[in-house]
Order: sequence, then C-alpha cells, then structure tokens
Amino acid sequence: MAKRVVGVDIGNSWIRAVEVADAAGPRPTVERYHRVPLADDAARSGDVLDVHTVADALKRLWADAGFKSKDVALGMGNQRVLARDLTVPKMSLKHIRESLPFQVQEMLPVPVAEALLDFYPISEGVGENGSPVINGLLVAAVKEAVMANVSAVQAAGLNPVDVDLIPFALSRVHLRGKDVRGTVAMIDVGSTTTNVVITINGVPQFVRIIPAGGDDLGRALTSHLGVSVAEAEHLKRTIGLRTAGVPAEFRPAVEVMYQATGQLLNALRNTLSFFVSSHPNDPIVAVLLTGGGSKLPGFVAALGELIRVPVSLDDGFGGIRVSRTAGASHDVDRDGMTLALGLALGSKA
Ligand SMILES: Nc1ncnc2c1ncn2[C@@H]1O[C@H](COP(=O)(O)OP(=O)(O)OP(=O)(O)O)[C@@H](O)[C@H]1O
Ligand SMILES: [Mg+2]
Repeated sequence: MAKRVVGVDIGNSWIRAVEVADAAGPRPTVERYHRVPLADDAARSGDVLDVHTVADALKRLWADAGFKSKDVALGMGNQRVLARDLTVPKMSLKHIRESLPFQVQEMLPVPVAEALLDFYPISEGVGENGSPVINGLLVAAVKEAVMANVSAVQAAGLNPVDVDLIPFALSRVHLRGKDVRGTVAMIDVGSTTTNVVITINGVPQFVRIIPAGGDDLGRALTSHLGVSVAEAEHLKRTIGLRTAGVPAEFRPAVEVMYQATGQLLNALRNTLSFFVSSHPNDPIVAVLLTGGGSKLPGFVAALGELIRVPVSLDDGFGGIRVSRTAGASHDVDRDGMTLALGLALGSKA
C-alpha cells in the first residue's frame, strides 16, 4: 500500500485535513478529507494558542474522517513567519543553512536562538565582487509558535513529519501538472491572514503574509452598524460588494464592506506593485484566489479592476486524483482544502 500522509491546516475557525496516498510519488491520490470546527481563540492566524482544545479537535477529526495515517504535515505562515529575499555566497544548501544564524540576525525581530531558519534557493548569480552567489528566500519562524502546533499534534497521538511554509504549499496545488509560464500571483484570503506567493515559470520567488482577512469585514459591520456576528456573516455572503439590485436599506452595510475590503485590496495592490517594481521585466499575468475571504461577492472583480490583471477563483483540488471513497464520503467544502492538500503533497516523509 502506498504511503499516506495527512496535510493539516489549522485555520482560525476550522481544522481541515486531507489524506494523500503516494504524496511524493508520480500519482498522488486524495484518499479522504474532512474538517472540524475550532472554538474561538484556540488558534489565531495559524498559531495554536490552546494546545488541548486543538488536540481534542484533531482527535475528533481523525475519528470522524477515518484517516488511516497518523503522519501529519503542518503549515506555518502567519505574522510571526518572515520570508525575505536573501543573497548568499554560493555553497551547498547544507552550508547555507548552517551559516544562516550568523547572516540574518539584523533581519529578524527576535533573537536568532528563538527562531527557526530555512533558505529556499531560487537562482544563481554573480555578486558585486564578481564571486558566485545564490539568490533565494530566507524563511524565519518564531520557534515557540511552531512548537505549539507540533505539541497539539503530538498531544492528539499523531506524528508530525513536516512543517512547510503555507504559501509554498498553496502554490504547489495551483501549479501542479500545469505548465505555468510567466509570473503568477496566488492569494489566499483567510479569516485573519492573507498569504501571497508569486511564481515565475512555476518557481516561487516572493512570499508575503498580510495580517488581514475576511474577519475584518465582520468586525467592521458589527462595530459600525451594531449587527450581530451572524448577521454580519450573512451580509458578507449575500451582499458583499454588490451594488446593482441591492435595496437601499443595505447601502450602509455595502459602504462598510467597501471600506473594510478597501484596506485589504490596497495592501494587495501595494504588495504586487512592490514585486513588480523590483522585477520590471516580469509583469504579473494572472492572479489565482483561494480562501473563504475571496468568496465575498464582488471581490474578484474589485481586485481585477484595481490591479488590472485577470483574477480568478481556483477550485480546491487543482486536478489531483480523488479516490471514489473520498468523493462519496461527505460533502465537506472542497474549495477550502487547498492548503491541507498542498501540505500533504509537499511532505517528503
Ligand atoms: N461566501 C463567502 N462570502 C464572504 N465571505 C466568506 C464566504 N465564505 C467564507 N467567508 C469568510 O472567509 C473567512 C474564512 O475563510 P477561511 O475558511 O479560508 O479561513 P481560515 O482558513 O479559517 O482562516 P486563516 O486562513 O486566516 O487561518 C471568514 O472571514 C468568512 O466570513
Ligand atoms: Mg486558511
């Protein structure tokens, strides 16, 4: 039987998981997928805050979904993860990783000893003094944040085998099996975090994590209009940024949603412009959206208008084979599963 691994996405309001057989092989298959709701404040922006609550939710998830594997691939990618361009002298990846603590202290908001560091090489070049260099991405995470997620998984009797950067996991699903030419931005709008990864010819070049998401709208609606959380959620899903055909009584809500979304849209535009200004020969040709926040009615059009690049919503499984049992077992939203799937697919275990 092919080896199986379960990608686990610990989101703000759901834990989502996808079990994949033969993840690192030529024909990976989604065997099962499921999600369980997560109590408020158990996790925020991907950080586990309450290890016991998350462990209990994971146990329930395993029992409900009937996952066969206990091997888990986790993601990291929140405000406490930093990804920055870094150029280092050309040497083996092992040596680069060993030298990181000495090279990056001034780039980090915490002491090196409290950070997990990694380096993803992107291209080779020639440095100022003519010697060969490697350009890549430095990834640094606050150890404590990642350790809480690992502890929750262990407390549920599971075995964490991999931790990967969330934007990379997302791009893995989007790009799988496609010949993606040119520069493409992939954006996941979650509840509190928006992940951006930009790839050129399928290779990730740039990662940003924006501390904003769909929940900002809910908060704006409840605080400005005094509506309940449930009403705010309803307004988001049914009205959003639509104006045509919306009764006058909803205009104040549309106003508020425009304003709150405007902040996220501007942050996205600035992020993409920053990339384009440092890569003037690589115009972005397409934007792919995932995440619940991107389903806000009118969001796709508003982003497209602002950045003048074709924007589309991507479906959850990016063409990966889904076994018949997985498809028939339940009607859990597939769209939300992209990250969990990408984490499983990236696992080398
Ligand atoms: N149809 C919809 N229209 C508008 N907003 C939606 C819709 N569906 C979900 N949302 C919003 O999307 C957000 C949840 O998105 P998602 O499920 O991707 O987040 P998450 O993975 O739990 O959080 P995070 O990735 O930030 O940890 C919530 O703010 C929710 O209100
Ligand atoms: Mg999410």
